Amino acid sequence: LGKNLMVYDVTDSTNTRLKLAGEQGAPNGSVAVANAQEAGKGRLGRHWETPKGSALAFSLLLRPQIQPENASMLTLVAALAVSRAIDGYAGIKTQIKWPNDIVYQGKKLCGILTEMSADMDQIHYVIVGIGINVQMTDFPKEIQNTATSLKLVTGKTLLRNELLAKVLEEFEVLYEQFVSAESLKNLKAEYESRLANKDNRVNVLAPSGAWQGICLGIKEDGALLVQREDGKVEEVIAGEVSVRGI
Ligand code: BTN
Repeated sequence: LGKNLMVYDVTDSTNTRLKLAGEQGAPNGSVAVANAQEAGKGRLGRHWETPKGSALAFSLLLRPQIQPENASMLTLVAALAVSRAIDGYAGIKTQIKWPNDIVYQGKKLCGILTEMSADMDQIHYVIVGIGINVQMTDFPKEIQNTATSLKLVTGKTLLRNELLAKVLEEFEVLYEQFVSAESLKNLKAEYESRLANKDNRVNVLAPSGAWQGICLGIKEDGALLVQREDGKVEEVIAGEVSVRGI
C-alpha cells in the first residue's frame, strides 16, 4: 500500500482526487494525501474541516476481489488499523465508536468515509478516506465538545507522515486477513476489545425511531449486536443509524 502516492498541498478532497484516479486505472493501494482540503467530505453528506497542516487527511484506493455486499466491512477494518496505529504511535488507548469513528474518552479523533464503485457482482474500486485530528487545538463551535486531537490528548507534536506510514503498515496486514476470509472472523475479537460502549447501555437512533439496549459486540459481517430490554438481540446495520452511550 502507498507505493503509488499522490501528494497535495491544497486540494478539494482526497477522496474526490482518488476517485478520478480510480476511474483512470490507478492501482490497488494508491494513496492520496493533502496538507489541506477545501471541500473535505464527511459521512452523511457533511462537510469535513481540514485546516492547513493540522490534520492527517488521506485516502486509500483498494480493488478487493470480494463480493460488493461485503465491501462495507472495509470501513471497520480501517478503523481497527487506525486505532492500532494511533495507540502505537501516540502511546494512548483509543476506542472505536461503531462502525468507524476513533474516539478517546468519548471524543472523536478520527473519521472515516468509504465510497465504492461497483456493479452487481464486481467491485471496481473502494476509496477509504481517513481524517485524523493531529495538531488542531481549536474546533468549529458545532464540534467543540465532541472532537479532540492527538495534540490535546498527548500534549505532544506528532509527525503526520510517520502516522500515515504506521496506518498503512497496520492496514496492509489487516486487509490481507479480511480479504482472505471475506469476513471479520479473524478481526472480531480485537475490534470488540476496542469497541466503545461494549456491555453498556446505548441509544440506537434509527430512521424508524429510537430505542435502548445493551451493546453486546459485532457480528462477523460488521453488524452491531444490541440486546433489547425484552432479551431480543437485534442486528444493527451501519448507514443512517447512530449509536450512543447513555
Ligand atoms: C466522518 O464524517 O466522520 C468521515 C470524515 C472523513 C474525512 C476524510 S479526510 C480525507 C478524506 N477526504 C475527504 O474528503 N474525506 C475523508
